[in-house]
Amino acid sequence: MGPGPSRPRGTRFDNGVDEMSDKTSNQSVFRTSRLEEADGDGLNPTSNRTMGEIIAARFSRRGFLRGSLAATAIAATVSPMALMTAGKAKAQTAKFSFTEVEAGVDATHHVAEGYDADILLRWGDAVFADSPDFDPANQTPEAQARQFGYNNDYVGFIPIDGSSEHGMLVVNHEYTNEHLMFPGIVTVVDGKVEVAPADRKRVDIEMAAHGGTIVEIRKDGGKWQVVRDGARNRRITSTTEMELTGPAAGHDRLKTSADATGTKVLGTINNCAGGVTPWGTYIMAEENFHGYFIGELPEGHPEAENYKRYGVPDGSYAWGNFHERFDVSKEPNEPNRFGWVVEVDVADPNSVPKKRTALGRFKHEGAESIVNKDGRVVFYLGDDERFDYVYKFVTAGTYDENDRAANMNLLDEGTLYVAKFEEAGTVTWMPLVHGEGPLTAENGFASQADVVIETRRAADLLGATPMDRPEDIEPHGDGRVYVMLTNNTRRKEANAANPRVDNAFGHIIEINEEGGDFASTEGRWEILLKCGDPSVAEVGATFSTETTRNGWFGMPDNCAVDSDGRLWVSTDGNSPKATGRTDGLWAVETEGERPTSKLFFRVPIGAEMCGPLPTPDLTTFFVAVQHPADGGDDWEGFGRPSYYEDLSTRWPDFRDDMPVRPAVVAITRQGGGKIGV
Ligand code: FEO
Ligand code: CA
Repeated sequence: MGPGPSRPRGTRFDNGVDEMSDKTSNQSVFRTSRLEEADGDGLNPTSNRTMGEIIAARFSRRGFLRGSLAATAIAATVSPMALMTAGKAKAQTAKFSFTEVEAGVDATHHVAEGYDADILLRWGDAVFADSPDFDPANQTPEAQARQFGYNNDYVGFIPIDGSSEHGMLVVNHEYTNEHLMFPGIVTVVDGKVEVAPADRKRVDIEMAAHGGTIVEIRKDGGKWQVVRDGARNRRITSTTEMELTGPAAGHDRLKTSADATGTKVLGTINNCAGGVTPWGTYIMAEENFHGYFIGELPEGHPEAENYKRYGVPDGSYAWGNFHERFDVSKEPNEPNRFGWVVEVDVADPNSVPKKRTALGRFKHEGAESIVNKDGRVVFYLGDDERFDYVYKFVTAGTYDENDRAANMNLLDEGTLYVAKFEEAGTVTWMPLVHGEGPLTAENGFASQADVVIETRRAADLLGATPMDRPEDIEPHGDGRVYVMLTNNTRRKEANAANPRVDNAFGHIIEINEEGGDFASTEGRWEILLKCGDPSVAEVGATFSTETTRNGWFGMPDNCAVDSDGRLWVSTDGNSPKATGRTDGLWAVETEGERPTSKLFFRVPIGAEMCGPLPTPDLTTFFVAVQHPADGGDDWEGFGRPSYYEDLSTRWPDFRDDMPVRPAVVAITRQGGGKIGV
């Protein structure tokens, strides 16, 4: 999200701080709006040097090395002629030739000229041959569990027989927006949406609308279709039985009254981004798990400090009123069973998803991976909270492309590392291994189980670098890694080390792992891009001068590096007031001194852009339009609170009898061919 005054009233509990101080968190009027960036303090209590301070120092270093063109943080101080020259040099290597979309705000989506953007799957659509028709005014938990869930976030594609026209689509359903989903529950008081307390049925619908969808899709006559009778189609929800594996599995801290083994857990929640492994499994990252817990721990409970570091309980959802496991006063260990990376074998619709504890417990944004040259597999992991950290996990075993079964438990053994970014331009990956450094019994870590359960505290002790909200992190074949840092508006004071008063618009870091070895414990890093409006000097954005008024963006969130090595960035938080535009998908040219960016697709009012996911042959991009109509107060085309009965958009159906519906969109080039070239 943008600067303070422009933020919608909604809250996002990914940062552990409730922005809606005018609303209670006592579950009688619980938070209902989009889970948007909160503008309070983060939860990291350490004084580790912030990324902003180090970045500023890095810009100084670049200035010394490269001259003022690359280094100057404030664009307006650079001579226009100098920038023009740099722009011309870059034009010769431009990789994106499409005509960009005009940035702006309205009720629908827009894609670049010459492309089709077709709705593939909407909230409530059938996932199975026998799924009931969507009837939003009379929704039931049973129907929802057979239909596409709410708020599609991560989108992955697992080809069948290597095809880019037939495969399994995997989609996360991150959270629910009750005020947009349910009729008759909203009253508007003083221009604000108030939501009636949830009953058991509503809670159970919400729980069924969370999780993920696995569905077979096929391109027929140039258009993607859902194969409703696909034998592997599946809905995963907040009640699907899962297994905890790895170093924390079976530990006392994971045992509950329902599970004396500490290995069986029901469901996954707040699955944000994720990944598809090289062996074709589906990764669902559990992000803001703290929002689902209510109650108070018993006095003096040993988990108190642990839960404080994660913001548990937050009380954003009323689930704990009807399901005791979400009430920490009744089931104090349940929060330790969330905040993990979940791996799902999509080949078997009855497989038990695995929560892989070796990859640590935090607010996992995603888990994109790459096979290293030595065969080990490296997963990059962001902890999306202001002042939290960037991680990677290196498997102990190696990937065998000829033996899928041999890869199926690679995620149970390996080393988790946390990043320390040094001023000198190096990044050091520090292992989170029990017994090494401060991770000992004296500091409360009796075993590796304790290290992974309290990953954040372990990383604090190692002196990791607090970041401006790490979102997607994408490795790229030649040793490069792109890190999306969406924003952090806590830093209120300008200083020489950080030219922005606060980092309202986020930035992107590029890491070059030592020798192209993704398992290396050393790398180099540079700022690829500081985001925001480059025409406003104080913002300090570093887009090239070739970047048009449509081409710049704020708040990078998800991203993809396609099979041609091109970077695509989707955003979360652009809005009429913050940036005069909706979120969208931008193509970013990464070569040269300053990136050139172009707008390829934009979403309707109130929505966030998730995905993007290109098929291997680059002829289709799947994107996810999340929480459309969650907002509109700040748009002159609407200008009032948006809720079920009075929506700022009824995308994508635009029918009076159908509410707004989050949806996955398939983008193809008219007449066929690669996208964006
Ligand atoms: Fe769910 Fe960090 O976005
Ligand atoms: Ca995200």
